[in-house]
Order: sequence, then structure tokens, then C-alpha cells
Amino acid sequence: MQTKRLCVQRLAAGKSSILLVYRYCIYWDEGVEQRMKVRIGVIGVGGQGKSHIDKLLQVENAEVASVYDVNRETAERVAREIGATAANSSDELLDSGRIDAVIICAPQFAREGLEETAAARGIHLMAEKPLGLDLDTVRAKAKVIREAGVIHAAGYCLRYLDTVQRAKKYLESRPAHMIQVHRIGSAKNWPKWMRQQHLSGGNMVAGVTHQIDLVRFLGGEFRQMSAQFNRLPHHSKDPEDTIIDSGAAAFTMESGSIGTIGESVASLFYSNAEVNFIGYDYFLQLSSNGTVMTIVDENGSRTEKAAVNMMYEQSKAFVDAVANNSQELVLSSYTDAVRTMAVTIAATQSAEDQTLFTLQYDDMQP
Ligand SMILES: NC(=O)c1ccc[n+]([C@@H]2O[C@H](COP(=O)([O-])OP(=O)(O)OC[C@H]3O[C@@H](n4cnc5c(N)ncnc54)[C@H](O)[C@@H]3O)[C@@H](O)[C@H]2O)c1
Repeated sequence: MQTKRLCVQRLAAGKSSILLVYRYCIYWDEGVEQRMKVRIGVIGVGGQGKSHIDKLLQVENAEVASVYDVNRETAERVAREIGATAANSSDELLDSGRIDAVIICAPQFAREGLEETAAARGIHLMAEKPLGLDLDTVRAKAKVIREAGVIHAAGYCLRYLDTVQRAKKYLESRPAHMIQVHRIGSAKNWPKWMRQQHLSGGNMVAGVTHQIDLVRFLGGEFRQMSAQFNRLPHHSKDPEDTIIDSGAAAFTMESGSIGTIGESVASLFYSNAEVNFIGYDYFLQLSSNGTVMTIVDENGSRTEKAAVNMMYEQSKAFVDAVANNSQELVLSSYTDAVRTMAVTIAATQSAEDQTLFTLQYDDMQP
């Protein structure tokens, strides 16, 4: 059987003067056309980096080519397991010429310059949520990414659930007057850095952000936020566990809806992550982190479970977006995720300053 190969290099100008080179190689085998695999690098291969890799290995047109972790042993072990190379630094990975795209799973306190370096080299990127800890820094990163013209994504994987897609369709013609968010669970088994407020940003920024993003995806933009954090002594006996136990917030939306958030990381025996949309003639609930949807309306009550794996769908969408140079295949872009981060920071700042916080999105183009 003869295989023919056609390689095309396409030059495209980004919004800045940077020129990007898109590589396409098309193979023919007995009339079947195949695109060359998208070569991906992963930075930070702890829990979430490994989850991405596991799903990428199932995506037909993806190849995990290289990994980097500040913990050399971890990087080498993961690289060995999947037959990738272990880079000695993030710069080495990004400069290697061996990757088309990078997935950034280093913790949010440790991403200095990674997105900008990738974008400047024309490397497409996905960054895990939250995008960082400081909003101005993240806004500046978004500007560089937008101007570079690379494909960009953020790890708001719940958007890829079929339940969430159906909820979006249902809610399109049914504005909610009330939205309830809650995310309750225990931080006991989280990585140590996640239990430190200054490194993770706290549960509002690092955990509830998924539900806040869902509210934005399904219900539009937030307008005002007023939050309170628990000031009682922390539940943990470890003095280095500084994460705030719980928070409560009230918010308004640009649509006129109002809503509440209740969150806790200090609940050993109950956990759930849920968003409820309440309309005059319907109730729509996305529970179990979006994977279970219940609708109650004039047609009765029905519950559906997600039939897809959100991490796989997210990986596939990102790889397809890179392969086809189609940003619209990405349901959660980096630039849009800046707004989700802004809402979580608004809640945190409101609780710290004891003020009502009004969101301004002027320089945050989605
Ligand atoms: N989308 C989701 O549902 C989801 C779920 C879990 C975690 N996350 C996010 O993924 C990120 C990683 O979380 P995790 O649970 O994998 O944490 P983790 O502690 O399990 O892994 C982090 C890894 O990054 C490495 N690392 C630290 N600093 C680094 C640096 N400067 N360069 C390269 N590697 C570095 C660590 O050695 C570790 O292996 C966080 O931002 C977290 O919020 C997202």
C-alpha cells in the first residue's frame, strides 16, 4: 500500500506583526485522508496534568510529545509511561520545535511568563483554571495571547458536558429570575499548596470558579457581588492550612437576575457542586458538578445524566481547534475565562474589604 504525503506551510499574520506558521501534512492511504497529529506539550504533570494526558491519549489526532514538571522525577516517570520526552525546563519544552500546542497545568501561583512565551512562539495553548491569582497579570497575558493570534483555551471543562449543552438550549428562551450556586466539600485530601490561601487563591477562586463559569455560560454576565467569608478558626489542625473554610455571597446579573453562592471546603460528610436556575414556570438544576440535570416544568420532572466525559470532550475540541485553526471549536477561551476570574476576585475582594463590588469588563474582550 502506498502512502502519499503533502506538507503545506501556511503563513498567517496575527493581529500584531508576528507571523505564525501552520503546519499541515495530509496523508492518503487507499483514498483515506488523514491530518498529521497535533503535537502537544504538558507543563505540570501532577494530578490534573496527568488527567489531560490520559484523555489526550484517547484523541486520535493528538500526540503528547513532551512534558515538563519542576519535579524532575515526576516528569521523567510520566514521560517514560507515555513514550514522550522530559524537558529540563519550560523554556526547553517551548523552544524545542517539537510541539504545536501546550497545556499549562502548573499551579496558578507558578505560571510566570508561560503563556506569553508560548504565544510569542506561535504555540497554541490551554491553561488550567484558575488562570492565575492576580487579575491585572492575567489581563496582560490575555492581551498578548489575543494579539499573537494563537488558538487559546481555559480548563472550564463543565462547558463540554452534554447536560450543560442541553441546559444552555433550554435556558436560551427562559431567563431565570433567581440563580443559586453551591459548592460544598472537604479540602482534606487536596494537595498542600491548594490548602494555602495565598497559593491557591481560596475556594472561590480555585473551586467555585467552575460553577461561576457555568452561571456565565448559561445566564450571562455578573454585575455586582457582595460576599462574606467565615472568620472563625480554621477547621484543620495544620497551621499551614490557611484556606478560608467557607463563604457566602449575593450577586446581581446584567440580565436583572439575582443570586446567591454558598461554599465550604470544611464539610467532611457532604459534598456537591450545584447550580439552580429558577424561573416563574420552570426549575433547572445542574448538580454533581454539572453531570446531572433536572428540569421541572409544565411537562413534569425529568433527570438526565451526562453521557460524555467532559475532559475527553475538552481535549478533543482543543486538538480539533488547533488542527483546523478554528478558535470557535473551543467552548472556553482564555480571553473569556478572564471574566470568570474577575467574578471570583470580585467576591474575594468584596469579602476582604466588606464592600459591594461592581464588575467592569471594559478591557476584557471575550
Ligand atoms: N479543571 C479542573 O477541573 C481542575 C481540576 C484539578 C486541578 N485543576 C488545576 O490544575 C492545576 C494543577 O493542579 P493539580 O491538581 O494538578 O496540582 P498538583 O499539585 O497535583 O500538580 C501540580 C504539578 O505542577 C508541578 N509544578 C509546580 N510548579 C511548577 C512549575 N513552575 N513548572 C512546572 N511544573 C510545576 C508540581 O511539581 C506538580 O507535579 C491548578 O491550577 C488547578 O487549579 C483543574
